Amino acid sequence: MDARPVGMFDSGVGGLSVYRVFREIAPNERVVYFADTAYFPYGPRSAAEVRKRAFAITHRLLEADVKMIVVACNTASAAAIADLREIFPVPFVGMVPGVKPAASLSRSHRVAILATSGTLDGGLFGKVVDEFGRGATIRAVHDDTLAPIVEQGLVGTEISRAAVRNALGGEIRAGADTVVLGCTHFNFLEADIRAEFPGVTLVDTSEPVARRVAAVLSERDLRAPVHAAGGLDVIVSGDRDQFKEVCEGLGIWNRAGRPSGVVK
Ligand code: DGL
Repeated sequence: MDARPVGMFDSGVGGLSVYRVFREIAPNERVVYFADTAYFPYGPRSAAEVRKRAFAITHRLLEADVKMIVVACNTASAAAIADLREIFPVPFVGMVPGVKPAASLSRSHRVAILATSGTLDGGLFGKVVDEFGRGATIRAVHDDTLAPIVEQGLVGTEISRAAVRNALGGEIRAGADTVVLGCTHFNFLEADIRAEFPGVTLVDTSEPVARRVAAVLSERDLRAPVHAAGGLDVIVSGDRDQFKEVCEGLGIWNRAGRPSGVVK
């Protein structure tokens, strides 16, 4: 048993799509979520820059006495997770685009992986495709426009619909029937993508990642006491009011519970 919180981070609101699933699985766990909005977006930054942010945030989360860290960002996972695991003394769980489930779900055997440049250009993505992409044509769709749309609170608007159309239209017309949401921000675009491309299969890895976090806590005897209250604290490196507003617009607070305190 370990009553300390779980640390989680992303460049902004995206990782809260993992938090909201984790909250359902482990409501007794407390989470300290770091939203690095001052450095948003990570997607177009170099791996070295993102790694530097991941290290700084890890130090900050360890100061908050977290027992493990969830890198709830595909871009930061691609840039930094191997180094983080090597250097810091807590367990890490990260995001990997869901190539394996997508390859087996696709009937047309053509899969579009929608992710940031940072995720798709990193070595981790190529490894995952080599290992799990067999039997399907895996097409990388680089997109650095959609995460800012989510971060600006524009989900469910003509702007987000047009951006989704623009990003995925070519691949869907070419026969892709399955789209991997390879960036945690994109999980919030599910309704927009479904509205634009009815019938497409979407692969979102937030649930398997949240389950993996719960499994690591069990394996290492780090679970919070069963009747602990749980909850969410958020640290925002940029503008807190804007962050709260976007979260409210996405309905995150309703589903995940209002954070007990927003710290800067
Ligand atoms: N949410 C991040 C990810 O999963 C990326 C968003 C950004 O570009 O900062 O890749």
